[in-house]
Amino acid sequence: MKLVRGSALIGLALAAGSACGTFAQNPGAGVTSTPRALYTDEQGDRGAVVFGAACAGCHSEGELSGRLFQIGWQGKSVGALFTLIRTTMPFDRPALLQEHEYADVTAYILRLNGRPARGDELQSSQPLEQVELFPASGLAGSATSDP
Ligand code: HEC
Repeated sequence: MKLVRGSALIGLALAAGSACGTFAQNPGAGVTSTPRALYTDEQGDRGAVVFGAACAGCHSEGELSGRLFQIGWQGKSVGALFTLIRTTMPFDRPALLQEHEYADVTAYILRLNGRPARGDELQSSQPLEQVELFPASGLAGSATSDP
């Protein structure tokens, strides 16, 4: 996961350093933006509670959503975000939460970024590495993005 985290941070650094920098992002071969299922509204609600309890001490919701966050994660998969959260967060106590709580809070971050609830709950057993996190057309938190 170091690579993914590094790439995300490089993306963020570029975005912060230059308003119109060039982003050498991996196009994400094999990543699709058309999942049959992503998460449910109920799961997003539960994720908001998890976020408040386990993440908000260090992160604002705005920090994990919006254009800058999405540029950093462009071309990455939902699975990459889920794995980063599950294996490295909370930063001071990784793997503190239950598996379903990590799934819930990942769903909440998808919601914060305008990905609509769809189908079944997000679960680690799904092929999330093949689901694109932020399709290029859906940047800037457009809630109308519905690939
Ligand atoms: C004790 C403080 C702390 C807590 C609590 C914490 N984080 Fe983090 N988080 C960090 C730090 C520090 C980084 C940067 C880590 C790095 O780059 O190595 C980070 C990075 C992240 C990133 C990557 C951000 C990006 O822009 O790419 C995500 C996503 C994330 N955290 C989600 C969460 C979630 C979800 C929770 C709650 C389950 C959480 N964090 C709890 C400190 C925290």
